[in-house]
Amino acid sequence: MAQLIGGLATSHIPSIGGAIAKGLQQDPYWKPFFDGFPPIRDWLGQVRPDVAVVFYNDHGLNFFLDKMPTFAVGAAPEYLNADEGWGIPTLPPFKGNQDLSWHLINTLIDKEFDIVSCQEMLVDHAFTLPLKLFWPDEVCPVLTVPVCINTVQFPLPSAKRVYALGKAVGEAIQSWDSDLKVVVMGTGGLSHQLDGERAGFINKAFDLQFLESLRSNPEWATQFSIHELVEKTGTQGVELLMWLAMRGALSTAGSGLRQVHCNYHIPISNTATGVLAMETLD
Ligand code: DHB
Ligand code: FE
Repeated sequence: MAQLIGGLATSHIPSIGGAIAKGLQQDPYWKPFFDGFPPIRDWLGQVRPDVAVVFYNDHGLNFFLDKMPTFAVGAAPEYLNADEGWGIPTLPPFKGNQDLSWHLINTLIDKEFDIVSCQEMLVDHAFTLPLKLFWPDEVCPVLTVPVCINTVQFPLPSAKRVYALGKAVGEAIQSWDSDLKVVVMGTGGLSHQLDGERAGFINKAFDLQFLESLRSNPEWATQFSIHELVEKTGTQGVELLMWLAMRGALSTAGSGLRQVHCNYHIPISNTATGVLAMETLD
């Protein structure tokens, strides 16, 4: 059976794409953010995962407000990026693993998650930039399966439901008849709000509590309703649901977890940024 070897999570701000293209990793503004990644890349270089299952939210590139699935799983041979209007370079396509996609889709439907399956799917900055941050190589060395969770158009799925989805994905990965090594990834957050009266809102105390909960009490955030999460983290801060899905998946694997690395930095653009890697123990 496939092995779920660990989990990754990071913020996914479009301007990161411009900073990478311009080689600004050592620039004083960007350095505290980019410095969070080399220790995680070192670990990835040792454990060499084959596939990444990526929990992220599309921001209007593939799904617009007229058609917004709550949960959608990609089942394409490759995933194309496209111009989202942020003025950042469009990245080359990312390869999919269709066998794992269909295994996830079948298993999730079996477990009563009525997901949408997508045999064609454009992927935006929330998918492409985290992969580029963890694997900066010209060609991404892992195959991918996108799992899209709506945090854009209300009503949003609850934190409890998202954690349960993550668990179901974790179980599905480990029942996949394959020798491959899999990591789960969650992208988005942490606290930020891009518009409205609270534009620029950041909540460091909550972010740090959330990060700690992922280590010691992963279901902690499931006590909050979506409206409470918006209040505490900002309208776009609810993207931290992706981290919760990733952690739900890890809760089904191994005998425990080891934190590989964690970094928190305020701000990049309008966002409190975080990056986290966790390894499952045998
Ligand atoms: C920003 C953050 C996001 O999560 C996003 O999707 C777009 C922009 C920002 O802080 O600029
Ligand atoms: Fe976002």
